[in-house]
Amino acid sequence: MAVRHYLQFKDFSCEEYEYLFERTRWIKDMFKRYVPYRPLHDRTLAMVFEKHSTRTRVSFEAGMHQLGGTVITLMTRDTQMGRGEAIEDVARVITRMVDIVMIRTFEQAIIERFAEYSRVPVINGLTNEYHPCQILGDIYTFVEQRGSIVGKTVAWIGDSNNVCNTWLQAGEVFDFNVHVSTPPGYEVEPERAGLYGTDHYEEFADPMEAVKDADLITTDVWTSMGMEAEDAERRHDFENWRVDIDMMRAARKDALFMHCLPAHRGEEVAAEVIDGPQSVVWDEAENRMHTQKALMEYLLLGRIKTQGELWST
Ligand code: CP
Ligand code: NVA
Repeated sequence: MAVRHYLQFKDFSCEEYEYLFERTRWIKDMFKRYVPYRPLHDRTLAMVFEKHSTRTRVSFEAGMHQLGGTVITLMTRDTQMGRGEAIEDVARVITRMVDIVMIRTFEQAIIERFAEYSRVPVINGLTNEYHPCQILGDIYTFVEQRGSIVGKTVAWIGDSNNVCNTWLQAGEVFDFNVHVSTPPGYEVEPERAGLYGTDHYEEFADPMEAVKDADLITTDVWTSMGMEAEDAERRHDFENWRVDIDMMRAARKDALFMHCLPAHRGEEVAAEVIDGPQSVVWDEAENRMHTQKALMEYLLLGRIKTQGELWST
């Protein structure tokens, strides 16, 4: 059977996400009650980072440790990859030794080439185009706080980057609407976002229009990793795309605020929003770990049929 990878959000169906969320609830509950659950005690995760990380690294390392497994973390500049070893060769070697791989890199094409030569599941821990693990955790957080996301409206304010593209894919998978507002010149590129169509999102020139009646407002840094040379220009171009209290007031009364983090208070988000009562950013960050534990369990062990069976093992 072909190895399953998780390279972009649309790699899984809505039904598979519902299964993952059910597992996440159970896994999170075990963790909160200090009940050990170590089904991956003989498995090794290799993580390859070509870019910086705090949350992704800690959530995968802690999560794999809690599931009983081992983690090897590689920063590419310390490896032969940093001296130009072909990604195909690295994939062939590493995946003879470990059971699952997570990669954070630049172009999506790099992780796709790695996956093509991999014997084991490969997880996208962020590329220039996508960040599926982030939206997995974000939607779980929304469901935990508000119930089903189907038919809801998510407002994305800011850059149409990897996190935005992944929200757009998620809109198609789950059937919800995304209102996007970017400065001119930074609009959504549907092909790069990997979309099937344009009927699950709408673009707004005015961010205040985009947030009207939204159930969730979310944003991200103006300058993503790898774009640092554009920082000064972007600070100027994005000046009016800061999520502030007026935007939160224009959304639904019970609207949530999310940010994948790291955040820059006073740039893409006002401090009173990210530190305010509608913000769920800390739950969002924590849920990265619980959802990724369910993801690794699924990719390595398949579906766990019932909790009864689990308890009998
Ligand atoms: N949100 C996120 O992926 O954070 P890190 O860059 O710290 O991993
Ligand atoms: N869009 C950001 C997300 C960081 C988690 C970046 O790619 O740098």
